[in-house]
Amino acid sequence: MCGIIGYIGSENAVPIIVEGLKKLEYRGYDSAGIAIYGKDGFDIVKQKGRLAALDQKLKENPRSATMGIGHTRWATHGEPSDINSHPHVGSKSKIAVVHNGIIENYKQLKERLEQKGAKFASQTDSEVVAQLAEYYYRGDLLETVIRVSNALEGSYALGIMSLDDPDVLIAIKKDNPLIIGIAANGNFIASDVPAVLKHTNQIYYLEDKEITVLKKDSVAFFSIDKEPISKMPETITWSADSAEKGGYPHFMLKEIMEQPKVVRDTINSAVNGANKAIIDEINIIAYDKIVITACGSAYNAGVVAKYVFERLCRFSSIEVELASEFRYKDAVIDDKTFVILISQSGETADTIAAMREAKSKGASTLAIVNVVGSTLAKEADFCIYTQAGPEIAVATTKAFSTQLILLYLLAIRFASKMGKLANADQNELLMEIEALPEKIASIFLHVDDIQKYASVCVGYKSIFFIGRNIDYAIALEGSLKLKEISYIHSEAYAGGELKHGTISLLEENTLVVALANCERLYLKSMSNIEQVVSRKANVLLISSQEETQADKRLKFIKLPEGNELFSPSLSVIILQLFSYYVAANKGLDIDKPRNLAKSVTVE
Ligand code: AGP
Repeated sequence: MCGIIGYIGSENAVPIIVEGLKKLEYRGYDSAGIAIYGKDGFDIVKQKGRLAALDQKLKENPRSATMGIGHTRWATHGEPSDINSHPHVGSKSKIAVVHNGIIENYKQLKERLEQKGAKFASQTDSEVVAQLAEYYYRGDLLETVIRVSNALEGSYALGIMSLDDPDVLIAIKKDNPLIIGIAANGNFIASDVPAVLKHTNQIYYLEDKEITVLKKDSVAFFSIDKEPISKMPETITWSADSAEKGGYPHFMLKEIMEQPKVVRDTINSAVNGANKAIIDEINIIAYDKIVITACGSAYNAGVVAKYVFERLCRFSSIEVELASEFRYKDAVIDDKTFVILISQSGETADTIAAMREAKSKGASTLAIVNVVGSTLAKEADFCIYTQAGPEIAVATTKAFSTQLILLYLLAIRFASKMGKLANADQNELLMEIEALPEKIASIFLHVDDIQKYASVCVGYKSIFFIGRNIDYAIALEGSLKLKEISYIHSEAYAGGELKHGTISLLEENTLVVALANCERLYLKSMSNIEQVVSRKANVLLISSQEETQADKRLKFIKLPEGNELFSPSLSVIILQLFSYYVAANKGLDIDKPRNLAKSVTVE
């Protein structure tokens, strides 16, 4: 969590770093800072609060330098404050550092450094890196970074400058992402590609414990043993525009609206494109158990997938687990287990740990990832990419939808390999999936209606989501989306579970969002709704079935018809729009909800 950027080149680093930080703000936004060379040492400007506050400070007192580092923070150690913001320097102000990650042995290191006379200014774990670097520094910054890295335990992506080396910027990473961009106007380090897309699409991905030495017109790579490494840059196909709001008030709304296109791109990639060969390569009949594991919304995509896999593949053992639980539960898995990891960022610490745990027990791993070159993508045995493009809003929308698509297509392919699906049925299901982008687009014709309804829902203290079977799975996502951006208390329940406890919470001032898309369970779902209405709660019903007379007591939104297995791809669009407009009507900071960060690279 936290975004770092560094630049060395021929232009003024300050606006370049601030622009880059704007693209990284999704990673953390409780404070920000920048360090450049000033007349008498480092010129460091740090500011608690959003990046806009730092930007304003820099505009009031413009400065210029051709090298610098910047940081946007999501606090782990030490409250959000000016002092705890990065960059940090050592006691002699000779070395400046930006850090993303957690230094696990910082207390021991801090104690030792204090005994040697270091004076710590902040409560952060990160400052120890700057202090240690100053302690080790004997005129060779690369050597210093190697010694520092060898002393650190935990995770880190670091950008480091020394006052004695005004033409060198050094970066290293372990268990946190760091990319290197090379452009005509200079060279960059960054936590993520969108930060540098405006300048270059030529990107190097750093491996753990690889070090980069950047100069104005060169980039060199070294191993932790100081051996030169040769690396090839990759060409990124995302356009710079894809990381801009494009006239929308929020990235979230833009990303919701992009779904017909990215869903179509993802279908194409799996049916005719790069993902197809990888899906075909998986010999699913060699396994007797499938485990799907992920965090947050990606986990919810996994819950949807469990229902689809069970229905289509009739596999005897399919489990879906939160990655944070899976990693520590000593799972009963072996080389006959196929583990699917789902992640937009590919950098979620718990999901990475789950993958490593699965691999250490001999399981085969498949990552479904959006960010090219991310840790999960690189380390999993197989990787297929969602074609969502850069997702900036903290609340995921288009990445979630594209994850669903790859999971549906995997289920169909696996079912067919296992002999559970006749060709004709397979073709029919594929046609249903091919029709989804158009159906999603048709939902956008009703945006005004959803917006109007959401505007009268801002006052609810609690909003419940209910559904049965696959509707329950997508209710989990609807509830998470609402609470994360609107701060309204919300829970999702399997429709049949209400009567076992939660129904006691229903009263006049509660709203229940009910999903009823499973034909076979429609009447059961309607009975649940009767129970809710009898307790005087209000109901928003989302269903692909026609509206009945009884439904007139409810707010009803009709979904396009189709196979119920894929209805989550449609109902989720309404749930996303509903959450978005509730939060918008409350005037909240939708793209950057409080206390959250998009990429959760710490435990
Ligand atoms: C979803 O809106 C959340 N921001 C969050 O739950 C997210 O899905 C989760 O942190 C997992 O992230 P990942 O997909 O990058 O692994």
